[in-house]
Amino acid sequence: MLENDPMIYDRMNERDHEQIVYCRDRRTGLRAIIAIHNTTLGPALGGMRRWAYKSEADALEDVLRLSQAMTYKAAASDLPIGGAKSVIWIESPDKAPTQEEALAMARFVDRLGGLYIAAEDVGVNTQYIDWMADATRHVMGGETHDLGGDPSPYTAQGVVNGMRACLKHTGADGSFDGVTVAIQGLGAVGWKVAKIIAKEGASLIVSDINQERVDKAVDAFGATAVSPTEIISATCDILAPCALGGVINAQTTLNTGIVAGAANNPLQDPFEDAAALKARGVVYAPDFVINAGGLRRLAGLWCGWSEAKIDASIADIEHAIAQILRDAEPMRSTHEAAIAYAQKRLDAGRPLSPEQAPAKDGAAGA
Ligand code: NAI
Repeated sequence: MLENDPMIYDRMNERDHEQIVYCRDRRTGLRAIIAIHNTTLGPALGGMRRWAYKSEADALEDVLRLSQAMTYKAAASDLPIGGAKSVIWIESPDKAPTQEEALAMARFVDRLGGLYIAAEDVGVNTQYIDWMADATRHVMGGETHDLGGDPSPYTAQGVVNGMRACLKHTGADGSFDGVTVAIQGLGAVGWKVAKIIAKEGASLIVSDINQERVDKAVDAFGATAVSPTEIISATCDILAPCALGGVINAQTTLNTGIVAGAANNPLQDPFEDAAALKARGVVYAPDFVINAGGLRRLAGLWCGWSEAKIDASIADIEHAIAQILRDAEPMRSTHEAAIAYAQKRLDAGRPLSPEQAPAKDGAAGA
């Protein structure tokens, strides 16, 4: 390490992390980092990203960034959970996941005693969670152990609810009838978004690097197919990025009034680009609020909520987006309004200082 490289505590201070756990399993070669960002509102739930990072520094940066985002995502969703994430650092992309590796990861998660609840992210599927569930109770998202399964249908429903709020914000009635939506990426979430809104009368423009998915969408929904290079600038009412991050910046040519999709970090620089979108009159639904349907479901199940309460939480994405769009009016951007919306909940949940705490006899508290 170079003399001026930040040390771990410096890195923790930068984003205000509570705990970072480095894990190494001798037998399987597992290397993982668990970053617990904030447990003010409750135990921290967050996915495990299994990825061939170029360096330890890259793995650490990713887990620090992603875990902080989870704190905001959970807080903005009014969930009694905190923010965390973990990364599993594999040496090459073709290293297949194994049951032994999943069990080793599960044992590390288990040692945290429920402070961290692990779930799927890129590179980790329901099978991996099911393997882990044999060694820890602190996982969500598997199938055979009734841990909520694939969250994408709930993420998709939440995205549609958020789109509806955007439509209403622009003066429309919130119906998809006659609304043109351009969807980038017809994967787990994008396909389900397409299915819901096509049924409600939306006209679809679609793109995917997987031609088979495009052909299927043309057949199933009467969608118009465009190339991956054309989708972002397609003329539409709503542009829904449902593939990768970083697809829009301040200079991107857009022919839409609304950007609302599932992708994490669709803006290259969320603070600057969201402000530029607002200045151009484009309504942007912040990613970590609109794509939280899956999290709301898994966290709700974790908390023992009824199906009705979980559904109400996912429906509430419409109200959350509507509120944030209104809050943003005097602000620089909807992204900043969403951060403030989450921060307000974190502040309200902050443990009381000794001066604020009620006296033991219950006399204080006015
Ligand atoms: P997925 O991997 O199932 O689907 C992504 C799709 O995008 C694939 O069909 C892929 O071929 C396509 N794609 C990749 N590059 C493309 C390009 N340049 N142009 C057009 N299409 C392209 O992923 P999933 O689960 O549907 O997630 C989509 C996005 O939503 C990701 O950014 C993910 O992080 C985010 N997200 C997903 C959640 C979930 O519940 N699955 C929850 C919250 C966020």
